[in-house]
Parts: sequence; C-alpha cells; structure tokens
Amino acid sequence: MRHLMSPLDLSVGELDNLLDLANDIENHPQKYAHACDGRKLATCFYEPSTRTRLSFEAAMLNLGGSVLGFSSADSSSAAKGESVSDTMRVISCYADIAAIRHPKEGAALVASQKSLIPVINAGDGGHQHPTQTLTDLLTIRTLKGRLDNITIGLCGDLKFGRTVHSLINALIRYSNVTFVLISPDELRVPDYIREDVLEKNDVPYEELERLELAMPKLDILYMTRVQKERFFNEEDYIRMKDFYILNKEKMELAKPDMLVLHPLPRVNEISVDVDDDPRAAYFKQAQYGVYVRMALILTLLKWKGDTTC
Ligand code: CP
Repeated sequence: MRHLMSPLDLSVGELDNLLDLANDIENHPQKYAHACDGRKLATCFYEPSTRTRLSFEAAMLNLGGSVLGFSSADSSSAAKGESVSDTMRVISCYADIAAIRHPKEGAALVASQKSLIPVINAGDGGHQHPTQTLTDLLTIRTLKGRLDNITIGLCGDLKFGRTVHSLINALIRYSNVTFVLISPDELRVPDYIREDVLEKNDVPYEELERLELAMPKLDILYMTRVQKERFFNEEDYIRMKDFYILNKEKMELAKPDMLVLHPLPRVNEISVDVDDDPRAAYFKQAQYGVYVRMALILTLLKWKGDTTC
C-alpha cells in the first residue's frame, strides 16, 4: 500500500503512466464509470477548499464510488481535541482511501503513518500540494505536448505558495526546464527550494521582480495568489496583495502560444479581461484536476491490492 505525500513519491515512469491513464479517462469516461463501484473516498478537510475537495469527490463519483467526510475542522472531532492520527486510524474503518488537507506542514504524513488505507496529501500548510502538481503536469503535457524543453515563469507568492514548491520539485526531473521566479523580495521562494532543489541539481533559474521583463521568454506563466492565510499580519498582506496583476496589456508581451496557468482561486492577480484569451488555460486546468484525481484513486487502490479497480 502506498500514500501520496509529495509528487516525488512517484517515479517519472509512474507519473507518465498516471498522466496516460488520466488522458484515457478524459477520452473514454464510460470505460471507467463503474471502476470503483462499492468503494468509498473520505475527504478530511481541516482547511477551506473548493477545487481540491470537490474535484476529489467528483472523481470518485465518476468512478462509481461514494464519498464521505468533513469540510472544516470545526465540524469534526478535531474541535474536541482529537489528533489527525487518531482521526485517520478511525476513518480507515469507514473508507477505502482518504484525502486530507490541513493547515500544518507534515499533518498528512502524520495521518498516513497510522492509516490502514491510502492517504493523499491534499495540501499541508505552506509545504506541498501534490495533486495540484499532478493537475498542472497533466495540463502542461496535454496542452503543450511535452514536459521537457520549457521555460516556466512562476509569479506571485513563491514563499508561501505550496503549489509552486510542489511543481518545482516535480519539473526538475525533466530535461531542459528553466525557471523564472517572479516575486517581490519578501515573497521569494524559500532558501531550501533555491539551494537544495534548484542549485543542488544544477537547474537553470533566474529571479526577477518585474513580470514585464519575464513575459517574452516564457512558454508557461504560472500565476499564484498571495496567500493571505499564511501572513502574520494584515498590513503586510495588504501591501503585497496587488503586487502583480496580469492584464490584456501584459499579455501582449507574451509569446502567441504561451499558456497561463493558475491553481485558483484567483483574487486580483489575473484580470478577468484575460479569461477570453485563448492562452488562458486555468479553467481547463481545473477540469484536468478531475481526470488526474480519478487516475490517482484508481492507481492507489490498485497498489493497495484492490484488483477490481
Ligand atoms: N487549487 C486549490 O487547491 O484550490 P482549492 O483551495 O479551492 O482546493
């Protein structure tokens, strides 16, 4: 039995197989409509979510399975002081697989250690968000046709943005990927990503503050929201929140086939006038999140030994 805590839990070969399966699910949904009949997914969300929780639930329902769970810590026995470890041990008795989101880094790992069923990290604090990364990789591979030979700009809150940390970890395994890290000084990518991930692996990267300077060289622009919930004071958040706003004028500086991605939710960082640009792929990306989560549920249940899935 295996869990998913980080995109690095999957080898490049396993990742390719998972993305192939997600593409097959997209093209032949009927083939999979009963693949998880009788199986249950628990969604244990201690932090707010729209896409991750609902796309996990849609994924299991599309596979013929059922879902149960809670959408906030307050509506679970966490409010009475129960540990995530005990909660997951108990949920193992009720479900076949679980997805957990928690504000604390490492909480999903703790939950997985006593679990009798596969546990998926659906976001742990500012640390990792591996299923968003699977979504991002599927979107890039499907719409660009490759995961190698790309220059990707990551823009916004690179300090607290867990989707950025997971995506960098995953993309460095592909050849000729160049990163342009676009952020204000206070929201630069953490030292461990720069030193232990990028520099240690000789991955080319540059850091810029001005989005306009980066635009012409990018194959993909990955915008992110300033993570209000991780700031220690409101004043700093207000100062930072509108630092970057991608609009029609800035899009004119980009290549004609540059993709704009965003894990969503967006606040102000992408103007709605960009939504109709054919290069805006963030709503398609949300749709790919369902296919890749369907593929992940099937794969983890198969590895658990559930031969009917
Ligand atoms: N992308 C993402 O994680 O969105 P939610 O917070 O709505 O799940």
